[in-house]
This record gives sequence, structure tokens and C-alpha cells, in this order.
Amino acid sequence: MKTWLGTGLLAALAAVAGCGSEGGGGDDNTTGTAPTDAVTYWQDAKPILDAKCNGCHTPGGIAPFSLETYDKAYQMREMIKSSTKAGTMPPWPAAKGCSDYLSDRSLTDAQIETLAAWSDGGGVEGDPAKPGAPIDRGPTNDLSRVDLSLEMPVEYTPTKEPDDYRCFVVDWPEAETQYVAGFRANPGNPAVVHHVIAYLVEPGKVADVEAADAAEAGPGYTCYGGPGVQSSWLGAWAPGSLGTDTPAGTGIRVEPGSKVVLQVHYNTLTAGMQSDRTTVDFRLEKSVATEGKIQPWAKPTWLSGNGMLIPAGESDVMHSFGYDITGIGGDPGPITIHSAGLHMHTLGTHGVLRIDRADGTSECMLDIPKWDFHWQGSYSFLEPKTVNPGDKVYLECHWDNSAANQPLIDGVKMPPKDVTWGEGTTDEMCLGTFYITR
Ligand code: HEC
Repeated sequence: MKTWLGTGLLAALAAVAGCGSEGGGGDDNTTGTAPTDAVTYWQDAKPILDAKCNGCHTPGGIAPFSLETYDKAYQMREMIKSSTKAGTMPPWPAAKGCSDYLSDRSLTDAQIETLAAWSDGGGVEGDPAKPGAPIDRGPTNDLSRVDLSLEMPVEYTPTKEPDDYRCFVVDWPEAETQYVAGFRANPGNPAVVHHVIAYLVEPGKVADVEAADAAEAGPGYTCYGGPGVQSSWLGAWAPGSLGTDTPAGTGIRVEPGSKVVLQVHYNTLTAGMQSDRTTVDFRLEKSVATEGKIQPWAKPTWLSGNGMLIPAGESDVMHSFGYDITGIGGDPGPITIHSAGLHMHTLGTHGVLRIDRADGTSECMLDIPKWDFHWQGSYSFLEPKTVNPGDKVYLECHWDNSAANQPLIDGVKMPPKDVTWGEGTTDEMCLGTFYITR
């Protein structure tokens, strides 16, 4: 089952800085069709759509329609207004004012108003010869280089509706120790792939994952909360992510003989049971100044028995945990957190990650006020956060386990039941994930 695509250095993805806008010139041509104060597509709406929507709303992209031309945007103008006002588009579930992130795709209030004014004004086209200046995406950590691509062993057609979670076991082909310093997934069929997580299975645990794979017919095996064997995260991809580099000089160590498990979440609601063969790309370094790792974080007692009970029928259940993590897995000492993500399943409603400092202050890392299972991702801090001995990393999750908020499983709405921690679709989790160095 050799699935190595090769280590060729694929072209860098260097953020093509918008080729110097022609705006701002002294050309005082006044023959434009629109009144000078009208909000127009070319001048005002298009730069926002280009910077904040068209990563997904492209032909063949993850979104169900393209917003790349005036005609399309014009047709959709009222929904553009309502979805951006409601905050559902662009998908960026992190609350404003908690922390500053790299590659932030949220809209400013002014941009939301501009799109609304353009829609309210009738969607005026304006003058294509006078496009507005491209919008700077701000500081980013997009994947800068690809050194290794791995592919699902074979094509897979989902068998469960509307959600199929499948784990595919892939060989790690490198003969020497390498450090993963960047990650991206490329859905083979964006119409059905909703998210992808790559897990690392170390050489000593390879037999376990091979057994899990062999125990189920067909390519790969069914998995939901994770691969079900001892493993750690290598990278996660959610729609819209261009892939990310780890912070300079850091990377996750991978030994020869390891396996990578690709967990692919298929959602077949709109496209039906179409086949897919997803690939993942890695940026590799032979050595790094500081080893990084993705540290999952939860209260250990949640994982067994009824340690994290979410009673049937209750509409706001909360579990929280704060702990000094600086002693974990090494000599006690400061830990630097570079990015943070939250993971719950479909009953989740709200989650928070913060640092409660020894001096009584607290610092917000991530606040997801409206949890959406389909848009989980990891958020990289503009300024990494240092956790010192005595500080506590605090995690809080809320769930709605009322009858109204039950998931669809194979097309059927489930009745409420008592829920606890587990890997299945009808179990829950409350997990923080951090990319840390120490
Ligand atoms: C990260 C990918 C992504 C980005 C970025 C994105 N969209 Fe979407 N959009 C989607 C997907 C996927 C859907 C389909 C519904 C869903 O899955 O939530 C969608 C649906 C929509 C819809 C249909 C109504 C709705 O709310 O579901 C509108 C309108 C829309 N997007 C507008 C926008 C606009 C305007 C922007 C930029 C300001 C934007 N989107 C940015 C992925 C994206």
C-alpha cells in the first residue's frame, strides 16, 4: 500500500500580493456610468468578495455557487447582505475581541455595511476600468512550500448519509526523521469532503491501526472522534483553509516507519454519494530549532464513565476545567501556545479557551459563541501566548441536549439520550488543541 506521491518541491504558494492596484492614479476620467457616490460592484463590493469569499465561492470550490463575476454577485446580492449581516458568511466562528489571529477572514463592520449598501442600492455595476484597490488580507500563515504529498490508498465512495467519517491508513515514506512544518489537505472531490484531520501513528502503534483497518471491509474504516488508536494530530483542514505553516523554526517530529491516518468527513447532503480521493501536503524540515507538538487538552476524568455527563433533554449543560499545564510531558517551565482550536460534536453550542493567570487576570485565546461542527478549525495567534508555571489553561464547553437539537444520523433525527465522552457520532467531546513549543 505504498501511497507516496514523491518529494518533489511543488511550487510555492507565496501570497501573490495583489499586483499593485491601478487605483490611486491621477487619471481624472469622469465618464463612468455610476454617480460618483454610488456604491458599485467594481469599486466597492468586488474587492471584499475577492478577499473574503472567493477562496470558497469559486467554480468547483467548496461553496455551492461562485461569486466571481458581476452577474453571480448581482443575483445573490440580497443573500450576500443577509448572510454577512447575520455573521454566517464568511465562516469564521471565532468571536471578535478575544484575540488577534493570522489569516483572519472575518469582515469588518465597515465591510459588512458596504456590502449591504451595495445590495440596497440595487447592485450597481460601476466601471470595470476603475476597480477598487485589492484588500490586504492582513498577516497570514499560509502554507509556503510543499515537500511531500500523500494520497488516500484508493478512491472511496461514502456509504453513510449524510455524514460518513472514514479513516484511511497511509504509509509515511521518509527514511529519516523529519519535522512537519506545514500542512494542507486537498479534497479530491470538494463537493463531498467537509473536513480532513491527519493523525500520526508512531512506529510502536502501527500494528494497532493496521488491525483497525483490517477489521472493516472496504477502503479504510469507520471513525468519528478520532482514529481509535493511540495517535497525535499532525494537522487539520477545514473548508476555506489554504493550509498553514507552523511558526518559523518549529515542526512536529515524525520518525521513519510511522503511519498517517487521514480522517475524512464526507457530507453527501447536496452532492450525493460521489467518490473522492483526497491528498494531503506537508512542508518538511530535516531539523528545527524548537520541536512543536499539537497538544490535546481535556479534563482526564471526562474520558471515563459519566465523567462528562450531558443529561438527556437539558438545553444548556456546561463542563469546564482549568489546570496548570506547564508540567505536562517535560520539565516544568513556560510553554508557548501558537494556535488553538476547539473540538466538540454536534450538540455543542459554545466553547471558550483562555489562560487564567497566576495574578488573577485572564487572557482570552478562543471564544466560539455559536459552535458549528462543520466549521471547526485552528486559530493561529498573531502574538504567541506564554503560559508560565502557576497559570491555568481553562476550557469550557456548552451543549444543548434538548429534543430540538438532535443530530441526523443516516437521515433520521435521534431522540435525546444521556450523552458522555466518546468517539461516536452520538457521543460528545470537549477538547482544546494547541500547537505548543517549550
Ligand atoms: C470558507 C469557505 C467560504 C467562505 C470564505 C465564504 N463562504 Fe459562503 N458558503 C460557503 C459554503 C460551504 C456554503 C454552503 C452552506 C454551508 O455549508 O454553510 C456557503 C453559502 C453561502 C451563501 C448561501 C446562504 C447561506 O448563508 O448559506 C451565501 C449568500 C454566501 N455563502 C455568501 C458568502 C459571502 C458574501 C462570502 C464572503 C463575504 C462568503 N460566502 C465566504 C463557504 C464559504
